[in-house]
Amino acid sequence: MCDKPANTSIGWRDPGWIFDVVMKGLKKGVRYYYKVGSDSKGWSETHSFVSRNEESNETIAFLFGDMGTATPYMTFERTQEESISTMKWILRDIEALGDKPAFISHIGDISYARGYSWLWDQFFAQIEPVASKVAYHVCIGNHEYDWPLQPWKPDWSYSIYGTDGGGECGVPYSLKFHMPGNSSEPTGTRAPATRNLYYSFSMGVVHFVYISTETNFLPGSSQYNFIKRDLESVDRKKIPFVVVQGHRPMYTTSNENRDAPLRKKLLEHLEPLLVKNNVTLVLWGHVHRYERFCPLNNFACGSLGLDEGPWEAFPVHIVIGMAGQDWQPIWEPRADHPDVPVFPQPIRSMYRTGEFGYTRLVATKEKLTVSYVGNHDGEVHDMVEILASGQVLNGGGGVESVKECDSTSGKAEGGSGGAGGRGEIVDSTFSWYVKGASVLVLGAFVGYVLGFISHSKKAAAARSNWTPVKTTDDT
Ligand SMILES: [Fe+2]
Repeated sequence: MCDKPANTSIGWRDPGWIFDVVMKGLKKGVRYYYKVGSDSKGWSETHSFVSRNEESNETIAFLFGDMGTATPYMTFERTQEESISTMKWILRDIEALGDKPAFISHIGDISYARGYSWLWDQFFAQIEPVASKVAYHVCIGNHEYDWPLQPWKPDWSYSIYGTDGGGECGVPYSLKFHMPGNSSEPTGTRAPATRNLYYSFSMGVVHFVYISTETNFLPGSSQYNFIKRDLESVDRKKIPFVVVQGHRPMYTTSNENRDAPLRKKLLEHLEPLLVKNNVTLVLWGHVHRYERFCPLNNFACGSLGLDEGPWEAFPVHIVIGMAGQDWQPIWEPRADHPDVPVFPQPIRSMYRTGEFGYTRLVATKEKLTVSYVGNHDGEVHDMVEILASGQVLNGGGGVESVKECDSTSGKAEGGSGGAGGRGEIVDSTFSWYVKGASVLVLGAFVGYVLGFISHSKKAAAARSNWTPVKTTDDT
């Protein structure tokens, strides 16, 4: 480890053994049963999973960022009670799948252990009911990595890459997970190199790419070369959809000022690759909200491709950092100015919400669908469908408003309250969706909203401008 508290007597303890096994030669789409343990120490119960099937005509995944873990005790760091609900609803969905393979995609800010080793153990115990059944894919976030002496820290990033990793410098992340590929960056200390930084795989009809926003992604870097080569190599006749995922967002309408220089670099260097290679969907975390954008290129909404005539497909961006951590930007109107949200919703933001939850991705050869499920009721509250042609059927966002949209920030339209949609709430159309699940009402969100009331009063004067309210840098 590289810094406190991870390498101090408070945060560190002997991690013992981490057993890491790669299973090869599995048959495709077959259920395998397994146990872990030994004769001398005992065996686990029997678990099972359905192996990946690259040739399947259907791809299913559950995707989110910034989940964290819940602890039944107070400890040095805030923990994330809401993560219990996220796991509960996803487990419901996985059990409803039967023998269809699926996987999890947790795109950074994973356990929020931040140097306190036992929180990683708590996290793995919490995800075990899910992670023992489906593959658990990750990419790196600031809370797995950032420390004062991290090796890649350009001038523009000094306010961005700070101490968020609690001194872990990617060590637990690199050793506890084993993702595809061989990406590796030295830590510049005795600590092991950081792995699992960028990789890709295809599952059925979708090619998934994972990137690191915490290490060098600029042209000339090995990561940039990987992304470019990888995106250019996908046979879109065989695999019609490409999904790119990273932690810190290229687009957000939250007032996440700290990351503005990094967003500029992402837009300047990575967005052209995404557009040129017809990436279908780009998922980000870090901002602890769900926010779906129109198909974007340089802040401008592109055509949905539903009209006659030539058009160019742009990637749809969605921020999905709403799985558990609760320090979030407030978009709700203030009590004394109910018609003015703290952060106005520009037209490119098709739907944004303050509810916790996760997303489900279901893709066939013809269509990729992303649904946002709210933890408060386990139901679908937003959905976007993208055809193999690149045409975007815009679900609950309201197709008409996208046709008219431009790159300017406008006043909020229909974006009131925590559920900032521009159209009707979408109902689920998935055959495997479990109807009639009992409604769970959670108090955590209400508690955090109350915490902001005193702060928002100060901002009441600036009605027409963006109000620089930020609860914390701890995204
Ligand atoms: Fe983050």
